[in-house]
Amino acid sequence: MTASGDSPFPELKKTHTMARTGRPYTDYKPPAAAPVWAAIEGYGRFHVLVAALELGTFEALARGDDRTGDELAAELEVSAPHLTTLLEGVVALGFLEHHHGRFSLNDTAKRYLLVDGPASMVDLVPVSPGPLANWSDLTDTVRTGSPPDPIDDDPVAFYRPLVTGTFTTIFRCASRADRQLRYSALDTPRVLDLGAGAAPWSCAILAANPGATAIVNDLAGVVDLAEAKLAEHGVGDRAEIRPGDYLEIDVEDGAYDIVVLGHILRAESDDRARALIDRAARALKPGGRVLIGDYFADRQRALEPHALMMGVTTMASTRHGRVFRFVDLATRLRGAGFEALRLIEPIGFQMVAVGTLAPPTAARPGGTHP
Ligand SMILES: C[S@@+](CC[C@H](N)C(=O)[O-])C[C@H]1O[C@@H](n2cnc3c(N)ncnc32)[C@H](O)[C@@H]1O
Repeated sequence: MTASGDSPFPELKKTHTMARTGRPYTDYKPPAAAPVWAAIEGYGRFHVLVAALELGTFEALARGDDRTGDELAAELEVSAPHLTTLLEGVVALGFLEHHHGRFSLNDTAKRYLLVDGPASMVDLVPVSPGPLANWSDLTDTVRTGSPPDPIDDDPVAFYRPLVTGTFTTIFRCASRADRQLRYSALDTPRVLDLGAGAAPWSCAILAANPGATAIVNDLAGVVDLAEAKLAEHGVGDRAEIRPGDYLEIDVEDGAYDIVVLGHILRAESDDRARALIDRAARALKPGGRVLIGDYFADRQRALEPHALMMGVTTMASTRHGRVFRFVDLATRLRGAGFEALRLIEPIGFQMVAVGTLAPPTAARPGGTHP
């Protein structure tokens, strides 16, 4: 056999051996196409999951034994060959088992994809990418520097379904965060929840600490969702609703033990994000903590793919959307008077930056921002 006959890329092997280049051996095998296929499939993967949820396939499978596509289709009154093909797609996504022609839920589906699953993401899935039409316009958004239909122009219409869909996941994050933050052990803490959505943080803190009270803010057309959830969790009597723009409502200085900025900074301009952090610093008592739920990029903006994709998601639908590097947020927080900065991940994929307001200094009299 000739040297050129035993390898698909004989030239590359010859010129890049360590003996020739003096460098450690480098594998010049062409890169796999898998990431390209993963991107192409991304669109379909989302819609397969949404369709499976909308058709009630997971709930149906949870009600009985393993079933064939035909059996399930009869139960759901849909086309059997089409449902079977869809279910095979769900198998490819990793949410169903398929053995001897019968489909069954796996542990991931039982935990995240059932309405009453212990960590249900059923309501989150369809709303999480934002308005789907904005994804089709992404190229133009990048060309022109703004989405054609930014949610900033009609925030209420977008945020009502969004915060309804994200409540369960963020409530789980906020409840689990007590293991690290121990807000349940604080003595009658006062909470300020800005841009609270359906108030997952206030619900969690007030439920865990019977002495806690909260000021819960959101836009006038959204805040009734918070009111309803607080009542549902039996803590409505300890929450005061303060509707309006979170930079314009009245907020007492030096009065709070916890200020929550949950998933609001990345959709705001730099100036308004800075003003929100300063507002949190002014509102807190010394020793009080700001909790910033968001997705943070690493220093190189390369190592946190979920955060980077959330940056694109927010950019696709808002005028200012992007994600911050945690290191930049930390600089901003220190400048506003915070110390003991840390980043916690109470549940997978949900990061919370925490900062403690330092005691007042000569440069920061009264604990307010200079
Ligand atoms: C992504 S949701 C986050 C909800 C909640 N904080 C959480 O962590 O799940 C952003 C919230 O900010 C609210 N919001 C947006 N702009 C606002 C403004 N100018 N003033 C008050 N709330 C605002 C939206 O209505 C929405 O409920």
